[in-house]
Amino acid sequence: MTKTTSKRQKIEVFDVYEANRADKRASATSTRQVIKDLKAIQDQTTETTGDFPRPTWGRGGQRRPKSLHGTGILHTRGVPTTAHTGATAYPYVAGTSLGADGLYIGRDLNGGGAFCFDPWRLYERGVISGMSMILFGQIGTGKSSLAKSFAVRLVQAGRKLSVASDKKGEWTRVVRALGGSVIQVGPSMGTRLNPLDPGTRPSLNAQGEPLTDEGWALMVRTRRMAILVTLVRILTNRELSPAEHHVLSLAMDTGVQAAQAKSTVVVIPDVIDALEAAKDHPDQLVADASSVMAMTLHRMTTGDLAGMFDGETTAYFDADAPATSIDTSALQGASPEAVRVVNACSGAWTEAMVTTSDGGQRLVIYEEGWDNISSEADLQRMVESWKLARAYGIFNVLILHKVSDLQMAGDVGSRMAAMAKSLLADADVKVIYRQDRSTLKLTTDELDLSDRERSLLKHLGKGVGLWRLGGSSFEVKNDLTRVELALFNTDERLVTTTAERQARA
Ligand SMILES: Nc1ncnc2c1ncn2[C@@H]1O[C@H](COP(=O)(O)OP(=O)(O)O)[C@@H](O)[C@H]1O
Ligand SMILES: [Mg+2]
Repeated sequence: MTKTTSKRQKIEVFDVYEANRADKRASATSTRQVIKDLKAIQDQTTETTGDFPRPTWGRGGQRRPKSLHGTGILHTRGVPTTAHTGATAYPYVAGTSLGADGLYIGRDLNGGGAFCFDPWRLYERGVISGMSMILFGQIGTGKSSLAKSFAVRLVQAGRKLSVASDKKGEWTRVVRALGGSVIQVGPSMGTRLNPLDPGTRPSLNAQGEPLTDEGWALMVRTRRMAILVTLVRILTNRELSPAEHHVLSLAMDTGVQAAQAKSTVVVIPDVIDALEAAKDHPDQLVADASSVMAMTLHRMTTGDLAGMFDGETTAYFDADAPATSIDTSALQGASPEAVRVVNACSGAWTEAMVTTSDGGQRLVIYEEGWDNISSEADLQRMVESWKLARAYGIFNVLILHKVSDLQMAGDVGSRMAAMAKSLLADADVKVIYRQDRSTLKLTTDELDLSDRERSLLKHLGKGVGLWRLGGSSFEVKNDLTRVELALFNTDERLVTTTAERQARA
């Protein structure tokens, strides 16, 4: 058989390379000769059993010079070993791959080639079941660059991007480069967002059924109450009493009616007016609670928060824009309370705008999200809205420094700690960039990392992260193009040198 095959190969070689006539004639003669030889060999070496010739050479094939067959037959035997030793003895074992179905993120450093990621496709394939991702890493390890490269590539592939709250204003350049719109909020910025805006009305509810007028009214009311309660909780730093909850709810309904009479959208001052009016309520409990709530909400219209959330929205949210962001960098140096209020309002406003399945698939980024999760009210709002992400085609990305950021949310056993845990559990994609030695133990325990993954985290280079999703983990180097690198650069010193170089040129 071996001989047969090699003769046939010879015929093909002649066919291809011998082009001229003489050669062709010679080739035909030699082909005839080869066929003759073949027949002779076959007659000599095979016994036909039905239609199938069977080889008569022994194991190892025909023994002839250079045939690589012969007496030196290779004998293999198994070596029993542990998985640990096996991994060391056979280091060139590549892990699984997610396939090429998605956007190129970078290289899988464990031999899997290109690492591609598309959460919507992975969800369809059943690899992940939740539509959110948490990105952990020390400062300067490349977390934001990963989120930005993913976002830029996603927008180019037809998806949309919303940055819920951009504390350093580092997404502004990226969003503008994508042709998107940036809303800048801060003291004396002249832009107002009304946290009580009804938001975008989806045509379908979370169950995928047509949204009725009553359903929509209920959705808007729930959203408005959630943000009012969030604001009061941030401003008072405590839970609301039942009486306070009651008066706030009544005041909101009264405020909505008053606004409807004026044919405007309800704003926080409408709610404050209703609370002020309720100060004279015959029930002392209601009167007292109204007084406290009115005083608390006054904070939204005075001091460092004045002019930001106390009137009708002046910014325009373009649902069709490829990218939108709320730049809150003007707030750097403001009181922590003000920062929390701004995060809550901009987060809630963005969520109200994007919670619709009609706008296509959208990526929502919570950049440097520890402020969001250190406020219980904001954390709760986030947990709830994340649960709806799947129904509305949203993929959330929360960027944090370390796992203990989530623990900062509250004491062990508290409701807040439980909510932070639920946020971590809901994030089906976890990406961990380099971690400090002091945070390694907690990271390992909380994320259930293996010994190898734990030791890897200490030494990850810039732009390299450990991706954990669908029960597998990948070590991925995020590849950035030259244009992306320049666009994402957050190193101020480098920015200046580039600018200086340009000025000199
Ligand atoms: N994948 C990468 N390849 C090359 N350089 C990178 C990469 N990721 C980040 N950098 C560089 O590191 C700097 C800081 O990255 P950044 O994403 O802002 O870090 P973080 O958000 O974790 O603080 C960037 O300005 C960029 O120059
Ligand atoms: Mg960053």
